[in-house]
Amino acid sequence: MFTALVTGGAGFIGANFILLARNKQWLNVVNLDKLTYASNLQTLAELQDDINYHFVRGDIGNVELVSYLLEQYQPDAIINFAAESHVDRSILSPQEFIQTNVSGTFNLLEASRFYWQKLSLQKQQQFRFLHVSTDEVYGSLNLKDPAFREDTPYAPNSPYAASKAASDHFVRAYYHTYGLPTLTTNCSNNYGPRQFPEKLIPLIILNALDYKPLPIYGDGQNIRDWLYVIDHCEAIYLVLQQGKIGETYNIGGLNERANVNVVEKICAILDELVPKSDFNYSSLMTFVKDRPGHDKRYAIDCSKIKRDLGWQPQENFDSGLLKTVQWYLSNSYWVNQVRSGAYKNWLKQNYENRKS
Ligand code: NAD
Ligand code: TYD
Repeated sequence: MFTALVTGGAGFIGANFILLARNKQWLNVVNLDKLTYASNLQTLAELQDDINYHFVRGDIGNVELVSYLLEQYQPDAIINFAAESHVDRSILSPQEFIQTNVSGTFNLLEASRFYWQKLSLQKQQQFRFLHVSTDEVYGSLNLKDPAFREDTPYAPNSPYAASKAASDHFVRAYYHTYGLPTLTTNCSNNYGPRQFPEKLIPLIILNALDYKPLPIYGDGQNIRDWLYVIDHCEAIYLVLQQGKIGETYNIGGLNERANVNVVEKICAILDELVPKSDFNYSSLMTFVKDRPGHDKRYAIDCSKIKRDLGWQPQENFDSGLLKTVQWYLSNSYWVNQVRSGAYKNWLKQNYENRKS
């Protein structure tokens, strides 16, 4: 079985990917994660006795550490999930986004290049550097615009999107300049179990369960294309195995929703699963001050990955959202762990000045 160095594997998508990779015996995994506020090792606790899973705490920006891990574990692939990933945080403190998303990815590419150049020809041909990116690099769509394709020009609007766009460009350059066998995936908004509750869906679920206001930015008509995290992880594995080197693949959920409709749907599920006789959860919905530069709409055209690799999303939004709400209801230990003091500070910082 191949070995992958997975970065950022203690975060939302990376951890879901590692759990699948080990449970389905896709890959042996070395997980390099800095353990920022967004991570939770509890998510991976079930792998503690797995001899083909190794966790290393560290920064992708640490060249010596990354080079050491490459020599030590001789991976056949690097899958780069590590990032600062939240748009609102990038607006309040963009510096860390440049540090990890741009400089960190650059360091990872440099260490990979030196490692890859020393491999045997056969190992060189097998090796892949898969970079996980976002649809936000393409900017914002109007309602009637066609969905983002792989050849849509980059037009990032937030510091987060700009930092991811920069990292994508470096990945592209390392393929074209050095021949490093890279793959890039640009996916839409993920949702599902184990997501840190600063992002819309888990934030709304947990606020509702606490009878707190459900903050909806602006008029709630911004549209996102929601992708179930397990569908995304399966797409990544497929791209890793069968993707054409140097190419990018868009991965989407074929599931565009206005934010206000997403929040209403979560409330309706909670009304069913945790009913209150005198109260509907939707009464907590609160329109608050908009995010600066808030992109209107994202939509992914994923016909390339469907045509070339045979992937399409399996989960529909009704079943995916139900599973997600059920997961948060059944995992209060995990939830309590991530809602530490630092999380409370974030809620104060982001929402205090957004009064409706
Ligand atoms: P996340 O914020 O939940 O997790 C990121 C992980 O990276 C955390 O465990 C964190 O500790 C780790 N990390 C951060 N900086 C690091 C560093 N310098 N060195 C090592 N580890 C570091 O993010 P996520 O939602 O799991 O996203 C994973 C990737 O997918 C990111 O690259 C993100 O840009 C991309 N993406 C996410 C979404 C989404 O909806 N969540 C959508 C499109 C693309
Ligand atoms: P988010 O989950 O932060 O993802 P992204 O900004 O990467 O798309 O936000 C999803 C959408 O929900 C986005 O349009 C902003 C909106 N949103 C709210 O309306 N209220 C909130 O409290 C949050 C966190 C997001």
